[in-house]
Amino acid sequence: MRITMIGTGYVGLVSGACLADFGHEVTCVDKDAAKIGLIHDGVMPIWEPGLEGLVKSNQERGRLHFTTDLAAGVANADAVFIAVGTPARRGDGHADLTYVYAAVRELAKALPRAVVVVTKSTVPVGTGDEISRILKEEGAPEGTMVASNPEFLREGAAIADFKHPDRILVGAEDERAREVLAQIYRPLFLNKAPLLFTGRRTAELTKYAANAFLAMKISFINEIADLCEAVGADVQDVARGIGLDNRIGAKFLHAGPGYGGSCFPKDTLALLKTAEDFGVRQRIVSTVVEVNDARKAAMSDRVREAVGGSLLGKRVALLGLTFKPNTDDMRDSPSIPLAKGLLAGGASVAAYDPVGREQAEPLLPGVEFAANAYEAAAGADALVIVTEWDEFRALDLRRIRQIMAGAALVDLRNIYDRQAVEDAGLTYRGVGRGT
Ligand code: UDX
Repeated sequence: MRITMIGTGYVGLVSGACLADFGHEVTCVDKDAAKIGLIHDGVMPIWEPGLEGLVKSNQERGRLHFTTDLAAGVANADAVFIAVGTPARRGDGHADLTYVYAAVRELAKALPRAVVVVTKSTVPVGTGDEISRILKEEGAPEGTMVASNPEFLREGAAIADFKHPDRILVGAEDERAREVLAQIYRPLFLNKAPLLFTGRRTAELTKYAANAFLAMKISFINEIADLCEAVGADVQDVARGIGLDNRIGAKFLHAGPGYGGSCFPKDTLALLKTAEDFGVRQRIVSTVVEVNDARKAAMSDRVREAVGGSLLGKRVALLGLTFKPNTDDMRDSPSIPLAKGLLAGGASVAAYDPVGREQAEPLLPGVEFAANAYEAAAGADALVIVTEWDEFRALDLRRIRQIMAGAALVDLRNIYDRQAVEDAGLTYRGVGRGT
């Protein structure tokens, strides 16, 4: 199949490279000439394990191309995926579809013949209908179809998620569109990845429902963690105890500082906006958003308590700043309200992140950046594990104790064993681990 991917962000670049790796002929188009230039030079615009090698090998095999020229990019396409950004619209939380619709208008004029236009970006219910209307209005070739194929990949594990999906979801109203998408995903189909066909609106809503449900699981276990602390129970055992029940499932039950990233915060808000537009209440998702915002804002209080009740004049070291490990993405990271809360309370803050520094620095004015975990910990009253990067899992705790001014270890990801921490002479405070 000849595939064009419009947008070389997370979803577009990973999907494009993986589809090329299946043997399809893929052209990725992006308006950002600097970005395309960098990719041509072998520099990835995002930090994602395995991506650089995958892009390079498929470029070398002549199956993966990059261009800023949309008309040239779609000249031979069978299917055109739209994978441009859909950020939250400033002010109201609605998904901003400006980039999607602009791409569609341009595409309509550039298409030499009918293709299947596929939305991969997360778009609100009804966007496929609007795309169809715009394509007609702008004179796209007769027979051009629109399908929805939401992407479920996670940052940091994006390639594995694309190649081993739990399911592939295709929302389409035409048999021909279903056939083309089935051809594109045939390599995965043979691996027994279920290919689920639904109506277009159903597929659009399913993506939001999936992300809202996962966000709900996280907020649920975070509130249970608070209760564990109050009653003297251990949330990790509770999570295991409920997660082994197949009806519940063990994943997304890690208590922590609240969810962040490019999807959950944005998509839960967008789901609420859609519900509001249609006059349907979504009390659960609305509470999830509220619980998560409050949780992120409350994390600096935990550090304050750990250093004796006041942050004034204290020094706090933050390990990990990105919203999760294996990414440089800082969007809606819990580290941002945490650092702000610490600084507002009068603490000085040193931080270290293995790859996130460049993205983090402009977002965290007043924070000092260290070159490694030990440099950050030097002279600190409290050491806070904010993101569970692997390199923080086996720190030399005795050395840490020696170089710190105080002794508080606040483990917001529960990666340490209380006993081991206390044996090294530090005090331990995890999440939902009542004593
Ligand atoms: C998510 C979805 O998982 C993915 O399917 C969708 O396509 C995009 O959004 P991503 O945002 O990359 O992916 O990361 P994910 O691993 O889902 O983590 C999201 C946030 O939830 C992170 O801040 C993470 O730390 C937090 N989280 C996740 C928890 O706090 N506890 C958990 O048990 C799992």
